[in-house]
Order: sequence, then structure tokens, then C-alpha cells
Amino acid sequence: MPWLAHTTSSRAVLCGAAVISVALAGAALAQIHPDAKTGKQIAEKLCVGCHIVGASAAGASVPADVPSFERIASKPGQTAESIAGAIVIPHPPMPQINLTREEIGDIAAYILTLKK
Ligand code: HEC
Repeated sequence: MPWLAHTTSSRAVLCGAAVISVALAGAALAQIHPDAKTGKQIAEKLCVGCHIVGASAAGASVPADVPSFERIASKPGQTAESIAGAIVIPHPPMPQINLTREEIGDIAAYILTLKK
């Protein structure tokens, strides 16, 4: 019965394709899911020169007029989107820092964890 063999194998192919597309969707979601831990690592490298980044940085020497990340997070109505927007807009004396959208999302997520 060759027709039976044919339907069986094409169903197997379809099934395999569905598994692959689910796996790809999962990978894409994982990539855009903000990761505050990664954000913390980036912020501790790139932002500590001016901002007090976390609670542990108390006493660090930074310019007095730069808002701490805790203060930024605690602004009324502050959201990950508005923080991300503020990171993207160059704010002198902050140098233009090349960050990917994922990294900006990670940092914004991290800053929000400092909200008081
Ligand atoms: C060279 C100093 C400097 C560095 C480095 C720096 N910043 Fe800033 N940042 C500032 C200053 C000064 C302001 C306040 C100026 C302003 O509000 O326009 C500011 C403001 C901000 C704001 C907006 C605060 C608000 O009140 O809305 C965000 C968000 C921010 N910085 C994020 C970052 C992040 C994230 C990094 C690291 C990737 C970073 N900054 C690195 C100097 C710096």
C-alpha cells in the first residue's frame, strides 16, 4: 500500500516542522526577555563612573548632580520603556555608548529592580 506509506511520512515531516518552529519561537522569546542580572553586569561596567548603580555602591565617588539608579527607578510612573528611552537618548556628559536593544532592555529591567 504505497499511499499509506506516503501519508505517514508526510505527517512525520509536518510534525517535525512544528517542533522546529516552536523551538525557534522559544529562542526568540528568550532573546527579547529582559534579564536584570545581565543588566546589572553591564551597568556595573559602563555606568558606575557617573551613577550610583546599586545599593552596594553607597559611598562610591560619582558626580553629585547625577541621579542614582535607585532615584531614577523610583520616579513616579517610571517604566522600563521610559528608562530605556532615557538610555538611548544621549545625555551629556554621558558618552554615546553602543548598546544593543537587548542590553538596553536588560539595564532598564535591572534599574527597575532598585525601585523604592
Ligand atoms: C559620563 C557620565 C555618565 C555615564 C557614564 C552614564 N550616565 Fe546616565 N546620566 C548622566 C547624567 C549627568 C544624567 C542626568 C542628565 C540629564 O538628566 O540630562 C544622566 C541621566 C541618566 C538617565 C535619566 C535619568 C532621569 O532622571 O530620567 C538614565 C536612565 C541614565 N542616565 C542611564 C544611564 C545608563 C544605563 C548608563 C550606563 C550604560 C549611564 N547612564 C551612564 C551621566 C552619565
